[in-house]
Amino acid sequence: MLAVRRALLAAFVMLAPALSPAAETDGKTGLVLAPGFEVVSTQCTVCHSARLISQNRSDREGWLAMIRWMQDTQGLWPLGEDEDLVLDYLATNYGPLSAGRRRPLPASLLPDL
Ligand code: HEC
Repeated sequence: MLAVRRALLAAFVMLAPALSPAAETDGKTGLVLAPGFEVVSTQCTVCHSARLISQNRSDREGWLAMIRWMQDTQGLWPLGEDEDLVLDYLATNYGPLSAGRRRPLPASLLPDL
């Protein structure tokens, strides 16, 4: 009986993150609590609110472009070896809502052949 309970508990613990409707967030910054959170909350809230981050979504490339833009024009320092962790965190927790190609154009918008 105990073994069954343990197995159920283990299954629940493993499935819970996938099932939970919203990820747990930090009360102060509102950022998702996940690996990389500490680095992002210290490095990325110096100049602006964390809301600027949580209101944005992008893939890794897009996040990298935003970081480079801040580095080139807004005085953001090099993130060094933290950069990968920061990008992983952002792309994982603030990735695009719908991935993949845009939907095909409707036939009415296609040129006549
Ligand atoms: C040195 C100051 C500084 C730091 C540190 C900083 N930013 Fe920014 N960031 C800015 C400025 C300035 C803006 C423009 C704000 C505005 O438009 O009001 C900005 C804008 C943004 C935007 C909005 C971009 C857009 O296209 O609308 C995002 C997202 C963002 N930052 C994320 C981050 C992340 C992630 C980090 C940590 C890696 C970070 N910022 C660290 C200065 C900084």
